[in-house]
Amino acid sequence: MSRKRVGVLISGRGSNLAALIAAARQPDYPADIVLVASNRSDAAGLARAAEAGIATAAVDHKAFADRRAFEEELDRTLQAARIDILCLAGFMRVFTDWFVARWAGRMLNIHPSLLPAFRGTDTHRQALAAGVLIHGCTVHFVTLDLDAGPIIAQAAVRVLPGDTEETLAARVLAEEHRLYPLALRLVCEGEARLDGECVHHRFAWNADETLFAPPSERS
Ligand code: GRF
Repeated sequence: MSRKRVGVLISGRGSNLAALIAAARQPDYPADIVLVASNRSDAAGLARAAEAGIATAAVDHKAFADRRAFEEELDRTLQAARIDILCLAGFMRVFTDWFVARWAGRMLNIHPSLLPAFRGTDTHRQALAAGVLIHGCTVHFVTLDLDAGPIIAQAAVRVLPGDTEETLAARVLAEEHRLYPLALRLVCEGEARLDGECVHHRFAWNADETLFAPPSERS
């Protein structure tokens, strides 16, 4: 199977991007990260990508009259790089239905909660306020409904006594870095694909990959 050409969209530090780049360095990984694009030219992740020898593009949303014009330029950039699959990794723009339809079934996002709980921002604060005992992260296909698309994979962490937003965020982030490469692999290999409103998983999960991180066993 030929390796998929993956584009990653970021707006900030790009730690999930770094995890995807590291995964794609493995010879048996089914994807190459061929382009990293950002709506912010100062996104730290762009420098990470450049250091890794990956092509970068900055498309400043503020330079366009409206969202659609911004997205058309972004889309042209992605088409020019012949992107098969698009990964959002801390990309802080909301897409129009035009862009979402164009990338339907080929656009993934990572969200720092166990969806459908805690959509939006400040997810770790929301989790602590709700008093949940289990929190985590989700990779899902992007649909028009923000942070609500069909779920590809999830990873869970325990909420520990004394957790603050920061300590909880750090443990969830470590799981994000494990989860995103796994979820992208599933999509690239056709193991997980969008089927109407659901994700069809070709095989049942391997029990070893049930993504529950016991406290302190993973950094
Ligand atoms: C991550 O927490 C991700 O789940 C969310 O935005 C954050 C991006 O962090 N969508 P990074 O830029 O990948 O470090």
